[in-house]
Amino acid sequence: MAVSAQAQPNIALIKYWGKRDALRNLPAVSSLSVTLDSLHSRMTVDLDESLAEDLLEVNGVMRPDMLARVTRCLDEVCGPKRCHAHVTSSSNFPIAAGLASSASAFAALVVAADGAVAGHRPSGELARIAGHASGSAARSLFGGFVELAAGDHEIDVRQLLAMDEWPLTVLVAITEQGPKAVGSGEAMKRGAASSPFYSTWVVRQENDMATALDAVHARDFEKLAAVAEHNCLKMHSVMWTSRPPIVYWNTATLDCLQTIRELQAAGVGVFFTIDAGPQVKAVCLPGDAATVRAALQDTPGVQRLMESRLGPGARLLDS
Ligand code: PMV
Repeated sequence: MAVSAQAQPNIALIKYWGKRDALRNLPAVSSLSVTLDSLHSRMTVDLDESLAEDLLEVNGVMRPDMLARVTRCLDEVCGPKRCHAHVTSSSNFPIAAGLASSASAFAALVVAADGAVAGHRPSGELARIAGHASGSAARSLFGGFVELAAGDHEIDVRQLLAMDEWPLTVLVAITEQGPKAVGSGEAMKRGAASSPFYSTWVVRQENDMATALDAVHARDFEKLAAVAEHNCLKMHSVMWTSRPPIVYWNTATLDCLQTIRELQAAGVGVFFTIDAGPQVKAVCLPGDAATVRAALQDTPGVQRLMESRLGPGARLLDS
């Protein structure tokens, strides 16, 4: 029987960048994210005894090149003796473009696969499995504000606040639609091996996490804004100082930052964050979202704007 699940991407405010253990995909640093609502990935897992191999279809196209990670994840959820699966995936936003599509995809995959074998695993366990495929995917199992603690042996994920406990709006400014040139796994490896800033990045992370946790619990927007922007720029400094350097930004990325700076100077409640891609995420107080949207729409190079509230974690869909 085919089982479907949905998950939303999450946007890290304190970033995961670097692996403590590449084999087990353990993050070198803890991270904190918000799960979105209106962007989503849907995954259907159909375990079928008549199949000779696993099949993966992404947005209507067969993708054997993306199958290996999916197969490993299915083995982990369903066991190595499972029958082969036809996996169908669809997302309502650009994939592999720095919009956390692997997070929503693997979070939805583990939930659908668990449903297909009636595993009834708790979200924390499914988060650990999703995290083996994509570190950030572990966070999309939960909604609202989520903490991923970098444990020594296993990743450890928990919800800090539910989506309606501190409602925020996220605007995503798309400045380039194509897939990114360097994947985050390769980029992290390069940063750890060659950036002179990498070790400082790792050592300072617990300070940023502590500040952000305080800000979230106190619903202190300005404090969260300051530490999130600082943390994002530090991560990009590691990328820029990797050898060869990795620069995901384009001129429109910088123009969006300028727009956000001007809004902040005018007292608008907004801050930016940027992941492994050129898109800018503007996190704002809901009452200021319309002002931020209008300003980003007028920013040169912004091709498309997507708006989302905070949303729930990954879940099964009715068949
Ligand atoms: O989970 P991955 O391997 O796609 O890495 C995610 C890296 C960032 O999006 C840049 C940061 C983060 O914490 O999500």
